Amino acid sequence: MTRRHSIWIAALLFGATIAAGARAVDQGSRTNPPRQDHTSAAYFYRSLCASCHGETGSGDGPASDLLRVRPPDLRQIARRAGGAFPAARVRQIIDGRTPLPGHMRSGMPVWGDVLRTTEGDDESAIARRIDGLVAHLESLQLTK
Ligand code: HEC
Repeated sequence: MTRRHSIWIAALLFGATIAAGARAVDQGSRTNPPRQDHTSAAYFYRSLCASCHGETGSGDGPASDLLRVRPPDLRQIARRAGGAFPAARVRQIIDGRTPLPGHMRSGMPVWGDVLRTTEGDDESAIARRIDGLVAHLESLQLTK
């Protein structure tokens, strides 16, 4: 092999290494999970609700076995209501400070009260939290 040839081969190898490195960096940035947003409703759901209702809302959270009443499948709220997601009713159930006629409360914490410990007496902050949770539950609905 001539000296010129080996320079070419070295250049090609160098190029291939750079390309592979760039691909690895690119894949890394695509597969790494995004940073946790500690103010998002999804994060809030995971930390406050998933222990009973499960990550997907199906009702299989680790604490669900300890409850007298098993948590209902939150993915099927719209289906049980006949199709449309009953947002106002869901928000009242989550808040819990105004009892809903016909809705037994036997395991669900009263989130309206719990949230006062984190949001202070700021009712609009509590309302924003609950609205976020309602929207998150709506996003979990099974459509078929
Ligand atoms: C300690 C367990 C527990 C936790 C934590 C919990 N829930 Fe519940 N949830 C229940 C149980 C049990 C029920 C069934 C009704 C009842 O007993 O009050 C329920 C019912 C509900 C319902 C009514 C569903 C329906 O179709 O009637 C909604 C909505 C709901 N939970 C949302 C939430 C949200 C949002 C959170 C988090 C902020 C949460 N739950 C946290 C146990 C829990």
